[in-house]
Amino acid sequence: MRTYCVTSGKGGVGKTTVSANLGIALAKKGQRVVVFDADLSLANLDLILGVRSDHSLQHVLAGEKSLGEIVHPAPGGIGVVCGGSAVGTLMASGPKRIGKFLEQLAELEALTDVLIFDTGAGLDTKVMSFAKAADEVLLIATPEPTSVTDAYATAKILWKRDPDARIHVVANQVSGPDEGYAIYSTLNAIATSFLDKSLEYAGAIPRDDAVTKCIRNRRPLLLEAPSSPASEGISEIAAQLLQLAVPTAAPGFAERLSLEVEESEHAA
Ligand SMILES: Nc1ncnc2c1ncn2[C@@H]1O[C@H](COP(=O)(O)OP(=O)(O)OP(=O)(O)O)[C@@H](O)[C@H]1O
Ligand SMILES: [Mg+2]
Repeated sequence: MRTYCVTSGKGGVGKTTVSANLGIALAKKGQRVVVFDADLSLANLDLILGVRSDHSLQHVLAGEKSLGEIVHPAPGGIGVVCGGSAVGTLMASGPKRIGKFLEQLAELEALTDVLIFDTGAGLDTKVMSFAKAADEVLLIATPEPTSVTDAYATAKILWKRDPDARIHVVANQVSGPDEGYAIYSTLNAIATSFLDKSLEYAGAIPRDDAVTKCIRNRRPLLLEAPSSPASEGISEIAAQLLQLAVPTAAPGFAERLSLEVEESEHAA
């Protein structure tokens, strides 16, 4: 299983849009995909996908449902897990509860090819463990100057927690491929000169009215407007991500997450 953690420095740059539609793009390429809403404050993945799930991670924590039972089927053949603020509750709970969740996550892992975490902006420390356990981090940035500086700050924090983190820049809401690559180049130049680190480039998504229109209609972009410029950008990013070597590291995601949780407990 591959795991992607979608994050950004600044809010409202397109994390949820990318998570949902990248999931659908990967499903179109034959992957079994689950998108996990891990935004502690503004969980709105279900809105973008137009699903209404009655169960969330809250029910898992209360012992009423298993994790597998709360994977809600969504358009495009993907599964959605509503984590929301319960992710914070989970990470702040005792080892017994976290252990139980991790066991269930390992079960889910066996049935899934790609797990995508949609996080909040500026990575809460509670969600940091998810980012660190993920194979790849997708860092969304837009042409706005504050988005670029905030993206750099986030990359810096991520690398501080995990010097080996593989961070891929996704340039969203750009006027064209050149502007997208320029955002990446700027970020990478700062990372290289100040931190001696390199960022990867995942690709660009044009600013596209179809995105807003689909969100308003609660229809996923990739299904409603598959040949719109934004859909094409997202599909190219999906293809590019699938080119990356499948991680062969022995421990699975659930196991890495458990090591992370232990480590942050020691650090606390
Ligand atoms: N490529 C795009 N073209 C046009 N508008 C876009 C594009 N991507 C995102 N948007 C707009 O930006 C808004 C915010 O997108 P989204 O909710 O995906 O961001 P987010 O990073 O998840 O926000 P938050 O930080 O609140 O979780 C959307 O409502 C949409 O209108
Ligand atoms: Mg969001």
